[in-house]
Amino acid sequence: MAEHPDGQTAEPNEALVELLARKVVGQPAAMQYIVPYLQMYQAALAPPDRPAGIFLLLGPTGTGKTRTVEALAEVLHGSPKAVLKIDCGEFQSDHEVAKLIGAPPGYLGHRETTPMLTQERLAAVTSSNCDLSLVLFDEIEKAAPSLTVLLLGMLDRGTLNLGDNSVVNFERTFIFLTSNLGAREMMKEVKPDFGFAPTDHRTPAQIAGKLESIGLAAVRKRFSPEFVNRIDVVITYQPLDTESLAKILDHHIEELQRHVYGRLGDRSFEIDVTPAARQLLLQRGSSPEYGARELKRTIHRLLTQPLAALVASGSIAPGTRVVADANDETLAITPLDEPATRMPQPTRQAPVVLALDDNVDLLGWLETVLDAAEMTPVRALTAAKAREIVASRAPDAALLDVMLPDGDGVSLALELRSHHPRMQIILMTGMELSSDEASICDRYDIPVLRKPFLGQDAVNVLRARLVHEKPGTRGSDAATPGK
Ligand SMILES: Nc1ncnc2c1ncn2[C@@H]1O[C@H](COP(=O)(O)OP(=O)(O)OP(=O)(O)O)[C@@H](O)[C@H]1O
Ligand SMILES: [Mg+2]
Repeated sequence: MAEHPDGQTAEPNEALVELLARKVVGQPAAMQYIVPYLQMYQAALAPPDRPAGIFLLLGPTGTGKTRTVEALAEVLHGSPKAVLKIDCGEFQSDHEVAKLIGAPPGYLGHRETTPMLTQERLAAVTSSNCDLSLVLFDEIEKAAPSLTVLLLGMLDRGTLNLGDNSVVNFERTFIFLTSNLGAREMMKEVKPDFGFAPTDHRTPAQIAGKLESIGLAAVRKRFSPEFVNRIDVVITYQPLDTESLAKILDHHIEELQRHVYGRLGDRSFEIDVTPAARQLLLQRGSSPEYGARELKRTIHRLLTQPLAALVASGSIAPGTRVVADANDETLAITPLDEPATRMPQPTRQAPVVLALDDNVDLLGWLETVLDAAEMTPVRALTAAKAREIVASRAPDAALLDVMLPDGDGVSLALELRSHHPRMQIILMTGMELSSDEASICDRYDIPVLRKPFLGQDAVNVLRARLVHEKPGTRGSDAATPGK
């Protein structure tokens, strides 16, 4: 039985909801509905002979439906790619459906068709810390009728018969169905408010209820009652409001900054995006029609590409600041002749080491030890503080205590790894790790220091880990986390 890295089972897991909500902005209902099914599965309480959860995600484009499934994959398996995705748009005619299950033996094309939905493919998207597969049927409204029939059987019995008569079992699976059905009508309902403060007097719950009924009505019109009845939860995604869009933009900008630190090493620089520039990016990159879908591309076009051109022409001195400001409907990017303020030291003779523990005495002692070993310690007493430091300073390594006041070090290690594959993570613990925790450390090659340890032990582990990460070598690709 798989257990979430934090070892929790059936109790409400606020930390998990929160962790997911940080990745999928402005859709709190999504996580609140999905997490209980996860806990049921982890507690071995999911009913047998059917998938462990069947979720229909409705709502406008670019509001986070697909991102939700990716975020779950990140948390459960350490990689957003650990999802078996079926694009229903590719199966619009009945004969294409054979690609999913493979043609029966003797039929034309039997040898060429490798079915997409096999037990092996399901297993390939699990990980050693969790055996739950996430399967995503995107845009189900486009599916051929025979695919709907196939899905019906799968949702009902939790099994699928392949062309060669073998049977695929979906009991250890969450099935996500996404659809834009009703999305247009939903947008009409809220469009006047898109990107602005709401002007009508309905509460968010009333608006959410209205959107849900629009979505459900559209789904009922398109699919049979048998099909609709098999779905455990219908989640209606809300159009993103200004605040959520701004938060998503912040995430993208932070990601770009981390990318610069990670790729350019000692040629790194700091990117300052002014509020006016952020406003412009939001205006250009978000719309009622596409939600946040265009944000990334807009950032790429207006910010990343011009920055790359400046780097290529040698116009940005290492360790300085570059300011992106709005200028006549476009972004003006100006390298300043000023040293960066938030940036980690560009030439890192002394590696920056984050030390996270709620024991202040231990932190003080670690700081002395690290200082003496010519490392730059940065302290955090909580996981929240550690995240903040990692986002702003991109440390070379982190020493994380397993027992934290606001979470646990093993989950945090996985989270940090998924965003910063090059950061070296070492755990510290005063207690025996659970077998799940130990196997996670094994799988992800995370060393564990058992308390009490000698200062020299910590320094040795750090030096051994940092030796491959000398300044200037940070551009080399690290292994994909979770693989
Ligand atoms: N709620 C959100 N939180 C964080 N990022 C988001 C959110 N919504 C959209 N995005 C950003 O926009 C991109 C597109 O979102 P996503 O693929 O989840 O849209 P979708 O709802 O599945 O749309 P579609 O109906 O077109 O498939 C994501 O990769 C992400 O960068
Ligand atoms: Mg999608």
